[in-house]
Amino acid sequence: MKKILITGGAGFIGSHVVRLFVNQYPEYQVYNLDKLTYAGNLENLVDVDSKSNYHFVKGDIVDADFINQLFEKENFDGVIHMAAESHVDRSITNPMEFIFTNVVGTVNLLNAARKCWKGREEGKRFYHISTDEVYGALGDTGSFKETTPYSPHSPYSASKASSDHFVRAYHDTYGLPTVLSNCSNNYGPNQFPEKLIPLFINNIKHNKSLPVYGKGINVRDWLYVEDHAHAIDLIFHQGKDGSTYNIGGNNEWRNIDLIKKLIEIMDRKLGRPVGTSLALITYVTDRAGHDLRYAIDASKLRSELGWEPTIRFDEGFEKTVDWYLANEKWLDNVTSGSYQDYYRKMYGE
Ligand code: NAD
Ligand code: DAU
Repeated sequence: MKKILITGGAGFIGSHVVRLFVNQYPEYQVYNLDKLTYAGNLENLVDVDSKSNYHFVKGDIVDADFINQLFEKENFDGVIHMAAESHVDRSITNPMEFIFTNVVGTVNLLNAARKCWKGREEGKRFYHISTDEVYGALGDTGSFKETTPYSPHSPYSASKASSDHFVRAYHDTYGLPTVLSNCSNNYGPNQFPEKLIPLFINNIKHNKSLPVYGKGINVRDWLYVEDHAHAIDLIFHQGKDGSTYNIGGNNEWRNIDLIKKLIEIMDRKLGRPVGTSLALITYVTDRAGHDLRYAIDASKLRSELGWEPTIRFDEGFEKTVDWYLANEKWLDNVTSGSYQDYYRKMYGE
């Protein structure tokens, strides 16, 4: 029997990780701690919320007293920390929120785990989920390795870089049993439609313009979210103490090419002549500090733990579009209310 705390489990990636752990490890008690910000949605977990090994705790990782009390009460064996403010554009308009949640929230969890596990660290694990954005931007060639120096450019990536440093510092200074991973762009069901793919699916569906930043030439590496969840499972159980693992899809796309591919799939599925929605493409002012290219060298994870992505992009992309089209209620619920204000402020429509 193990008690695992997953933070941010009501969000996009978190909900896939919670589902995997609840179903795959019936002998574990899985605690999902989430503040339920605009990005947290318990509808993402309706299929697991009645299972006896799943527990939901509503709370804020920035609240140190609350976090300390929770650790004292539950005495967790492991932590998978995914709660974060995760959207680069929001970090540009409101950086402080990112410093509170991503930096202070992470350090609160580290302090609570350190106190709770002091003198009995054996068999415990604090797993911090991070991003490839901490490494900065690449030119046309090369890829990020675990040894690539950090060079974050956005308030989001700076806050994630800072939290990564604290995790390593707590390992080296206090002997906290930590592990860390840095992943590229995830796509799949349940992603909040502020991120490129679900935003553009929703806009194409409603015949709304598609705001492409700059010239659309920025490159991202895309990984299906369930492949990331499987990597997290593997690293949590088998990753080396104090280690870092890069996770990526080996699947780079220029934004504009990805958008054209999405338009082709959407037009086909919506019964429109293929190419109709190309007219929705609108080039807008570039994102400030927009990183040109990310690419991941995931060879360490492959050679040490045998992980490979299993879902081909063609298959994952179709599945993703199908999910958003089939889950109209989910999409309508998350795009009503405050989403409309965000959209107007962000895109001026
Ligand atoms: P998300 O925005 O979809 O979900 C974040 C979750 O954290 C939400 O459920 C939210 O309610 C919760 N949360 C936010 N602030 C909180 C607080 N103060 N206390 C408790 N809960 C809080 O994010 P995501 O895209 O699923 O990303 C999850 C993690 O993975 C993040 O740490 C992110 O940096 C990292 N990551 C994301 C990607 C990606 O492509 N989405 C890639 C690599 C790494
Ligand atoms: O690389 C991992 C990161 O991927 C994660 O750490 C972040 O949490 C996640 O949000 C994602 O960051 P990006 O900034 O790469 O994702 P986003 O979906 O916001 O944007 C993808 C690309 O599309 C990026 O080059 C910006 C561009 N874009 C995005 C939006 C929202 C547009 O051109 N127009 C848009 O409206």
